[in-house]
Amino acid sequence: MIHEVQGTPPILFGVGSSEQTGKKAKELGCKKVLCVFGKNVKKTGFADRIMELIKKEGIDVVTYNEVVPDPPDNMIEKGAAFAKSEKVNGIIGIGGGSAMDTTKAINTLLGNPSPITRYLDKSIPLNPGVKMILLPTTAGTGSEVNAISVITDTANKKKGGVIGASCVASVAIVDPKFTFGLPAEITAVTGMDALAHGVEALTSKAANPVSDILAERTIELVYNNLPKSIEDPDDEAARTNLSLAAMIAGIAFNSAPPQLGHAIAHTLGAFYHISHGTLCSVGTPEAVEFVADVLPDKIKTIGKAMDVNVDEYSPAKLGKAVAERIRKFARDAGLQPFSELSVNKDEFDKIAERVLQDDCAYFVPKEIDAGQVREILDKAYGRK
Ligand SMILES: [Fe+2]
Repeated sequence: MIHEVQGTPPILFGVGSSEQTGKKAKELGCKKVLCVFGKNVKKTGFADRIMELIKKEGIDVVTYNEVVPDPPDNMIEKGAAFAKSEKVNGIIGIGGGSAMDTTKAINTLLGNPSPITRYLDKSIPLNPGVKMILLPTTAGTGSEVNAISVITDTANKKKGGVIGASCVASVAIVDPKFTFGLPAEITAVTGMDALAHGVEALTSKAANPVSDILAERTIELVYNNLPKSIEDPDDEAARTNLSLAAMIAGIAFNSAPPQLGHAIAHTLGAFYHISHGTLCSVGTPEAVEFVADVLPDKIKTIGKAMDVNVDEYSPAKLGKAVAERIRKFARDAGLQPFSELSVNKDEFDKIAERVLQDDCAYFVPKEIDAGQVREILDKAYGRK
């Protein structure tokens, strides 16, 4: 069997690596850059420090700090229009998943015509845009090392992916120090996203021997370090391991995209604006149960990485046991069950249809129809 394994952008990883941002921007030939971030990152002072480092290298800086969760198409168009008017030749994204996705989408429009929605879930070849540096301040999305930007098509109430050269960083700078001291809730939702990437990359239809190694390690790292990071937000070793997990999961899903759990999470996210990590804790365990019959060895691998005594269970029951372990892990991290989230059950039929239209649905490793998705949503809603 031949596997297609996607590479990664150059990466700087480690505590203190962000101090080299200015130097890297200069090496890339940047003369004027747009720094993209949201209000929370502004408050931490991280964006100011990065801009100071860039200016020190004689590079001009302009800012776009209007990033919001589930990046809407109109916010991206506005940022791109501003970047064009300022004639930047570099773009720097600082923040969580939404900032990474916004930066990539703006960069897409710097090399390709508007509107951004024309590229959603389509395999249109993309020009690379300008030089791009991505600095994640959370440990979850892994977006800094992959070629995907997930954004919201507001007119159609749908999340979709822009994929291509304009979404690949010129360099990803992963400095775990940005995550030190993060509150428990952010740590939990972002960590759950990383875990979901590991679990779903391992069980993706496009899984390959390289992504499998990264995905398995991701699951172990999140399982062993998320609780420690919640208990002691300044645990440097645990935080560094979580950043590593998020990053390698991002590399894994570059060639082994997540499957049903993410198709569910994206769809519910577009309808209800609930945090992506919380929705992953709903969708990912269901995905595990659904595919357990066709991927028994992979389910065993997930179980072992999460300290499930896999030999205690028959193959038929192992899927349920591993799924239950993931749900318990999420509850212990403080995430709410599906039934406590603000969703409208009357919309489940429509949501089930939309789940199958999400890009990730293609990577479910067995046949699935809307009726089955509806059943899965009902089952998930009924769990405590
Ligand atoms: Fe995700």
